[in-house]
Amino acid sequence: MVVEPKAPIVEMRQITKTFGSTRALRGVDFTVLPGEIHALLGRNGAGKSTLVSCLSGIVAADSGRVRIGQADIIANGESYAAALRDEIAHVQQTPRLFDLLTVAENLFLENPAVRRRGWVSHRQMIARAAQVLETWGIEISPTALAGQLGAGTRQLLEIIKALNRGVPVMILDEPTAALSNAEKRVLFDHVRALKAQGVSFVYISHHLDEVFEIADTVTILRDGQTVTERAAVSSLDVETIADLMMGQKTQRSVREDFTDASAPPLLEARGLRLGKGTVDFQVRKGEIVALAGPVGSGKEDLAMILAGHKAPLGGRVFSPSGKLPVIGLVPTDRHASGYVGLLGVRENVTLGGLDLLSGGLGFIDRGREAAHVGDLARRTNVIAASLEQPVGQLSGGNQQKVVFARALCRDPQVIVALSPTRGVDVGAKEQLYGLLRDLAAKGMGVVVVSDEEDEISQLANRVVIVFEEEIVGELVGDYSMKDLILRMEGVA
Ligand SMILES: Nc1ncnc2c1ncn2[C@@H]1O[C@H](COP(=O)(O)OP(=O)(O)OP(=O)(O)O)[C@@H](O)[C@H]1O
Ligand SMILES: [Mg+2]
Repeated sequence: MVVEPKAPIVEMRQITKTFGSTRALRGVDFTVLPGEIHALLGRNGAGKSTLVSCLSGIVAADSGRVRIGQADIIANGESYAAALRDEIAHVQQTPRLFDLLTVAENLFLENPAVRRRGWVSHRQMIARAAQVLETWGIEISPTALAGQLGAGTRQLLEIIKALNRGVPVMILDEPTAALSNAEKRVLFDHVRALKAQGVSFVYISHHLDEVFEIADTVTILRDGQTVTERAAVSSLDVETIADLMMGQKTQRSVREDFTDASAPPLLEARGLRLGKGTVDFQVRKGEIVALAGPVGSGKEDLAMILAGHKAPLGGRVFSPSGKLPVIGLVPTDRHASGYVGLLGVRENVTLGGLDLLSGGLGFIDRGREAAHVGDLARRTNVIAASLEQPVGQLSGGNQQKVVFARALCRDPQVIVALSPTRGVDVGAKEQLYGLLRDLAAKGMGVVVVSDEEDEISQLANRVVIVFEEEIVGELVGDYSMKDLILRMEGVA
């Protein structure tokens, strides 16, 4: 008996795409089978988002051929998104919700199910939205404005909107970047259910554990070319994938301790009220402290209060030496508050310290600015065509490096970084860890909020466990990975 192989639902052949002088894709082939979850991997800037954007037509490929189901397109640089609308849904890396529309409107405005003879039935839309929100276990009102929601809920909504379209192929570009573990579980359940119905997924992520959990097949891009095509997930391991992505062996770094225990703390918080309980906290020169704990524990709030970006319900933040230190902030949701996409690298970085670069009359000293930004961009390893390239055009990892450069613009003594390597590839992660360690070695106090055990154990000299708005535990010095996992799971 001959087993008929399933015909692919997606076929991309010899796709090329150039942005100015950047050759983002150089003849890429990509194939997806029906009912398959296909992970598309590669380091920052490898071309993943560009490839899937060429697939959904958001970006027009320069040349090559794209087929999805019945739609067959010969790319010639012209838009073909409309021709593919019924075949594919694409959740982009950067959130695209309409802030001023309600949850229900965002979910259904583009969905034919609520339109009757050109009219949108509002009542039906709200009822349907309430139903959908319930199956996803999201407790928000269908009439809330999207702009008022937190990053995780926004991201989920965007995904739900796409998954509801009833198309055979879905692209999820780093869908879990802003999701909690619980939200991720819900997402994966829905993805698996749709897969069982024959829906195919293209799944982009820098979290290789997710890839092993959910994907069937892996394609790896490097510098706009395919280095591994359609490998079975079961034939790979994390190290192999990392090496293929980087084109060389990747080295995991280990934590170092530069804590200056003799000097007074740089920053101290006493009797801080985040909610029910109170918190005492301090960070010393050269110390890297991680705030760990479940979503909603208050660890983000604590970080934002320390950074001076949020007011506590009570208590105070001060410096034992008198003057409050300059604090640099890497915010958690870089798309919402980390950078301005239309502005260039230079302008984004100097947003972090305009006053510092101003001359006596308040004008910015251009020469000093260029030198300072150039220096920061080098230290943070930003890769861009020039310092004027809009940050919206950079790959996710480079956007995050720009956010770091901005946080460092005013020469802070303390840096507070929330989810510092979200959306960042394994190589760039090591660079950012190296940067944070460098800063600590120079005497800076570093506060990191993280959900990733690996990250914490590679960086933090001290781990503070936050639970229900209180500090419930601490690990110092030579703690093991096992100690950390037990504490983070709330076992120990
Ligand atoms: N609109 C654009 N204008 C100019 N250059 C662009 C644009 N979009 C992408 N690029 C460039 O194309 C290359 C590939 O970028 P792409 O966003 O596809 O990478 P990626 O693999 O998705 O990376 P990441 O993991 O960081 O999201 C990068 O060099 C990027 O700077
Ligand atoms: Mg991308």
